[in-house]
Amino acid sequence: MLSAHQRGWRTYGIQRGFEGLLSFEGVVKLGPEEVRGITHLGGTILGTTNRGNPFRYVGRKADGEEYEYDRSDDLCGAFRASGFDALVSIGGDGSLQIAHQLALKGLPVVCVPKTIDNDVAGTQRTFGFDTAVSTATEALDRLHSTAESHERVMVVELMGRYAGWIALNSGISGSADVILLPEIPFDIEKVCAKIRQREEMGRHFSIVVVAEGAKPKDGAVALVERRGVGTVDRLGGIASQVARAISERTGKEVRALVLGHLQRGGSPTTYDRLLALRFGSAAVRAIAAGTFDVMVGLNGPTITCVPLEEVVGRPKNVPLDSDVVQTARELGISLGD
Ligand code: F6P
Repeated sequence: MLSAHQRGWRTYGIQRGFEGLLSFEGVVKLGPEEVRGITHLGGTILGTTNRGNPFRYVGRKADGEEYEYDRSDDLCGAFRASGFDALVSIGGDGSLQIAHQLALKGLPVVCVPKTIDNDVAGTQRTFGFDTAVSTATEALDRLHSTAESHERVMVVELMGRYAGWIALNSGISGSADVILLPEIPFDIEKVCAKIRQREEMGRHFSIVVVAEGAKPKDGAVALVERRGVGTVDRLGGIASQVARAISERTGKEVRALVLGHLQRGGSPTTYDRLLALRFGSAAVRAIAAGTFDVMVGLNGPTITCVPLEEVVGRPKNVPLDSDVVQTARELGISLGD
């Protein structure tokens, strides 16, 4: 934003995602005064929603029943009527898909990848991820106290949707004994074998990290709520399933914990602050160069522009041959396979 201001551009923020532009009421001035002193804050000063997809807008019939309809033409009209020259869309896979569809309709769009899940292709990192991993690692450190003193198995469910980045990175850093990832369907017997092996070695506690998208070899992903009108699947519940299975098979005292939205709050890490600012400046440079329908991404030591068509619909999962997965195995961490 400040980078845009340096060029003499006027900048506006859209509140509650695309919703704010559709209603016109959510367009607010976003100058240097408005963004002063926010670098160290979590969340967003503009608000957000995961129900504002203009291509799947939610309407309500007279009888109260909800239905989806396409309001993308209204959104393009609102954008042009506002006199804007470019749109910067900040978000994860869902936002990127919407942005690409809008670009195909002629809107000059540049995207900034922001999600704790780190599941976006075309960038090594999304901002928010490092902070979530740090929070999760700290939680694992704290859980060791009860696990060890009470000789329990603690099963911790971490976010990440269908990618295991948060679970893998924090699991290794937080000295987990088992890490279950969406990328590696798990065998509960292998998980229990690891816990028993630790028992035999006199280690009477274990920490099991489960990504919310992890699933058993012969089972399905645990959902709290299936995708509905204008919404996406809500994942959750795998930790309690795993905890029950471990307790039944090993006889150990087991506790399950869902870290949940704690992973999405609080002051961002230095890494995330810098990455977000680098992404923002790179987005301004892309606009200045007239490069649209792209996402800025971290690639090697620098930020590049990646065409959105190379990014959308291609979720980035943990590569099973990565050195991080290999490191986990070589440290003796069970991945449940
Ligand atoms: O995409 C980020 C994320 O935090 C996921 O890790 C999680 O599954 C989801 O959002 C939770 O969404 P909500 O806040 O709508 O429950």
